[in-house]
Amino acid sequence: MALPRYAAVTGWGHYAPEKVLTNKDLEGMVDTSDEWIRTRTGICERRVAAAHETTASMCSIAARCALESANLASLDLDLVICASTTPDTLMPATGSLIQDAIGAANAGAFDVNAACTGFVAALVMGSQFIQSGAYDRVLVVGGETLSRFVNWKDRNTCILFGDGAGAVVLEAADEECGLLSFVLGSQGSGGPLLDIKAGGAAKPASPETIAANEHYITMRGNEIFKFAVRSMVHASGEALAKANLHAEDIRMVIPHQANVRILRATQQALGIPWERVFVNVDRYGNTSAASVGIALSECAEMGTMQPGDNVLFVAFGGGLTWASAVLRWADISSIIARRGEGPYAI
Ligand SMILES: CC(C)(COP(=O)(O)OP(=O)(O)OC[C@H]1O[C@@H](n2cnc3c(N)ncnc32)[C@H](O)[C@@H]1OP(=O)(O)O)[C@@H](O)C(=O)NCCC(=O)NCCS
Repeated sequence: MALPRYAAVTGWGHYAPEKVLTNKDLEGMVDTSDEWIRTRTGICERRVAAAHETTASMCSIAARCALESANLASLDLDLVICASTTPDTLMPATGSLIQDAIGAANAGAFDVNAACTGFVAALVMGSQFIQSGAYDRVLVVGGETLSRFVNWKDRNTCILFGDGAGAVVLEAADEECGLLSFVLGSQGSGGPLLDIKAGGAAKPASPETIAANEHYITMRGNEIFKFAVRSMVHASGEALAKANLHAEDIRMVIPHQANVRILRATQQALGIPWERVFVNVDRYGNTSAASVGIALSECAEMGTMQPGDNVLFVAFGGGLTWASAVLRWADISSIIARRGEGPYAI
């Protein structure tokens, strides 16, 4: 009988564009205030891509950092999965652009679009490829250039979003670690609550759609807020139960960063101490499919997780969609040290 295989996180990286857009800056653009944005969302500033930057270019930087931290070369990768709602182009897939930019000549590549849920969905998917025995090393990267899809005259949305990218390397291991359980959900009837109405096959871009601002994000914030808390609490509880774990067994929660009030309400309902919830929405705003990747990278960089720690990921977003996953942090140095031997030798 084949031995079980696990999908360890062995590397991480992130990238955020240099340009910082503060709440004060937004005061000069729309009818809002620093105080309103801070109290309603917890966001203080967000990053905006420079003219030459794209989702693929930012993801490629995050991917290189993740490979470096895993001590791997791009040629070691079997697969690149990119989660994004703001791909460089409808075709080719941004995953292929990243695969080319980083020189991952031995890897397949594709995109996943589950809006802000995308990174967790891609993490689950990448883990399946490894657990099934199909692949040994998978790069999961989430990136967004939301600044190009935000209506900078709409105060309901433009204060929320930011640009950036986050990546992880998943690697085969034979000691129990990586994905323990997951939940993926969708309620497509809620799609109109958060969408970009034109530019797809249903309503191709035209002078009329552009005049009507239908190429920008529209959102019913209040309804999304309620859905967010409900779905995050429910999905977290389900993933914990599937992993046979309780709230107190979780070392860190790495949630989608949309609004600090959503995170607070979720944390209180789950009964997990606030100190165990990773928060960076104050510095980046909502970076959609990049947010969990950036948060995971920052949290791992701080050395917060130790081998054997359980980490809960949870996200919600357009679709509507939601996802949660429980991962056990791997003994990364022992996986790296044993790379030369055994079935996963490079
Ligand atoms: C968008 C959000 C911050 C609004 O906060 P809220 O407390 O729900 O506020 P409301 O929508 O009830 O709006 C309250 C008022 O503030 C106004 N307002 C909206 N944006 C504003 C802004 N940037 N500055 C000042 N006032 C603003 C509204 O027009 C409304 O005014 P009215 O009462 O005169 O109509 C909050 O609903 C939210 O975060 N929702 C989730 C959004 C999200 O996560 N989206 C991404 C999903 S991945």
